[in-house]
Amino acid sequence: MKTTLATALLATGLNLLTPAAGLAETGDQALLKQARQLFKPLPDNMATQENPISPARVELGRKLFFDPRISVDGTVSCARCHLPQLYGTDGLRKAIGNHGKANPRNSPTVLNAALQGAIAAHWRGDRKSVEDQAVQALVGPPSFGLAKYEDAIAKLKAIPGYLPLFKAAFPRDPSPFTQDNWGTAIGAYERTLVTPAPFDAYLKGNTRALSPTAQAGLREFISVGCASCHNGTGVGGTMYQKFGRFEDYWKLTGSKEPDKGRFDVTKNAADLYVFKVPILRNVVMTPPYFHDGSVTELPDAIRIMARAQLGKTLSDTQVKQIVAFLESLTGKLPENFQTVPVLPTSAFQAP
Ligand code: HEC
Ligand code: HEC
Repeated sequence: MKTTLATALLATGLNLLTPAAGLAETGDQALLKQARQLFKPLPDNMATQENPISPARVELGRKLFFDPRISVDGTVSCARCHLPQLYGTDGLRKAIGNHGKANPRNSPTVLNAALQGAIAAHWRGDRKSVEDQAVQALVGPPSFGLAKYEDAIAKLKAIPGYLPLFKAAFPRDPSPFTQDNWGTAIGAYERTLVTPAPFDAYLKGNTRALSPTAQAGLREFISVGCASCHNGTGVGGTMYQKFGRFEDYWKLTGSKEPDKGRFDVTKNAADLYVFKVPILRNVVMTPPYFHDGSVTELPDAIRIMARAQLGKTLSDTQVKQIVAFLESLTGKLPENFQTVPVLPTSAFQAP
């Protein structure tokens, strides 16, 4: 179609009539460009070359994740501390495991947790991967609490319905009941637990996916300095940092017994009070906050971060805007995490 003078004029006229909209558009694009340099949208799943997934492994892992019968007292599954209805956390300051044993730290969410492949999982970075994490949970004293891996294998073998599922998930393995396969299956399931959010739509180019307040919050999150630590696909989970660079963290959080963080793992003085920078995806849904669950309200956690990590005091408006940005990180629960699976029965089955 030929462009007529009228349409050309109309176009120019519209541009002249809406200079503000034009400017806002440029501003939006600049923010989006900056955001894309710091963050990335979530992938469809978190499988890697080293840890591929298959439908049979994911389905087995999902069952194992929700099965309490393997634990020492028959009451502890992964879901005890990573509940779907609380976005993969337990709502407690510190987790409680078998026989009511207290865990020294707060339960982080399992959602998107496998993103942190490059750095080890857990607050102090004492696990290599979600697979390694699952294996070690079996013998974790406050977790499943088994004395040794053989006990876990015996408990799995006692549930006849698991044999075909393990065989299907590990077809080349003549005796598939091993703790490594347990970890591989649960890890495969965890690698499917991604929660795409409005922020992902934004990063993919839909600037309207974020409200103006959320965009203002994103701008603050970057300019104040939060994104220097909380960045990447998970908006965190890419590095370790000292908690309390400007002030002792326990003076701000009220923590009774300061945790020495990675120092207790590495015994390196430089690691005193160093913790993993947590992913902030779904953070609105996962209080209480910090490694010890010492802070209940998100605005308080944000103010504490600004003071402890950046030596800055935020205004109420800045906090409100950052909360709005963090809300845009709340995604949809994956379907295979919204409902619980039916588990193979441990009752006698006729041959
Ligand atoms: C008794 C409660 C409890 C149980 C049971 C439990 N977890 Fe956790 N989980 C925690 C706590 C607490 C942490 C943090 C531990 C730490 O950092 O010292 C954690 C950390 C994790 C992490 C690391 C997340 C991150 O971002 O660092 C993953 C992944 C995870 N758990 C998955 C599982 C799986 C899979 C199971 C079952 C095999 C399981 N958990 C069983 C409480 C529990
Ligand atoms: C120097 C690095 C650094 C900077 C800058 C930083 N953080 Fe953090 N952030 C951390 C670390 C480390 C933790 C974990 C602290 C702990 O619990 O031990 C954390 C934890 C958090 C938590 C709690 C998450 C949870 O699941 O418990 C929130 C929320 C948070 N940061 C938001 C922010 C905001 C907002 C800013 C900017 C005002 C910010 N952070 C700046 C390193 C940083």
